[in-house]
Amino acid sequence: MPDPARLFQSLSDPVRLRLLRLLVREELHVQELVAITGLSQPRVSKHLGLLRKQGWVDQRKEGTRSWYRARSGDDAPGGTALLPTVLTLAEELPQTDGDDERLVLALGARQAQAKAFFSAMADRWETIRLRYAQPEFDLGLMGGLAQPEARVLDVGTGGGALLPEFAATGARVLAVDLSLPMLVRARKRCRGQAAGEVDFCCGAAEALPLGDGACDVVQCAMVLHHVARPARVVAELARVLRPDGRLAVTSFCAHHQEWMRSELAHQWLGFERTEMERFFRLAHVTPGRWLQRGPRSPDGSGNGNGPNAADWPEVFLMTGIKDADHGG
Ligand SMILES: C[S@@+](CC[C@H](N)C(=O)[O-])C[C@H]1O[C@@H](n2cnc3c(N)ncnc32)[C@H](O)[C@@H]1O
Repeated sequence: MPDPARLFQSLSDPVRLRLLRLLVREELHVQELVAITGLSQPRVSKHLGLLRKQGWVDQRKEGTRSWYRARSGDDAPGGTALLPTVLTLAEELPQTDGDDERLVLALGARQAQAKAFFSAMADRWETIRLRYAQPEFDLGLMGGLAQPEARVLDVGTGGGALLPEFAATGARVLAVDLSLPMLVRARKRCRGQAAGEVDFCCGAAEALPLGDGACDVVQCAMVLHHVARPARVVAELARVLRPDGRLAVTSFCAHHQEWMRSELAHQWLGFERTEMERFFRLAHVTPGRWLQRGPRSPDGSGNGNGPNAADWPEVFLMTGIKDADHGG
């Protein structure tokens, strides 16, 4: 049980209430909190330190970045009773005016990075892709999941490398991507192939242009590390999946390759298996297989694009099945 005097003292500053209010809404790193609040970094860090000490927020280190998020439910100080009251009172603070709008802008900035990067890289993307691609995943998983007539969604299709594989099964495929230049590449690729029915749509993984339960199979290959809110994206992938439908996600395993943020517009330095399983379960998808591979050997067909071949992290593939009693 925390010392009540210290606990209430930790709430006795409007800056801390403001930070806590934001961190209940979203996991944010220090620079984002600085941008949203307009406060100096030392000030934000000092108050985060106090919130952390009293158990209001958790810190997560990812490379050189520190992420913070508010504890919730029984994990919050005072259990489930105190935090909602604190947040209601925090809403009355004039200092929070505009924070929600600036939070939306901060999240939009995360998404804009990926969009700008892929739109500029569309011509060169396939060369980069070869450095990490795991053909075993592409063929074994992606092709293997679809059946004739299955409704398949490929989210963040990029150059559409996996589309012919899907279309060859006789599945009806919708390919979605945030970047129009990437979609143009994907469409070109399918034109040359004896592919089945493939449609293309420019859209965001966060708000897919489909109704609940519209798909039999949803895949999202090497996209999650680029998106603003990975857990939300997994929930959206699951929303459009029918009960008992199959979800397949690939991305990088957790790593420390900071260069991937600046050079490849990665928002997240990969994911732990436990984290992915949490995303799946929150989305009512039962986790299935987990495979990890790579990096590929520097033999000309594989790695070598990073500072060193060895700097490319492992890639994982995780599959899951949407709970039978959920959605659709
Ligand atoms: C690394 S590429 C992967 C392409 C393809 N899935 C593959 O495995 O080859 C990531 C793709 O995701 C797209 N993307 C990034 N963020 C997205 C988002 N929020 N919604 C939809 N597509 C997104 C990018 O435009 C890019 O084409």
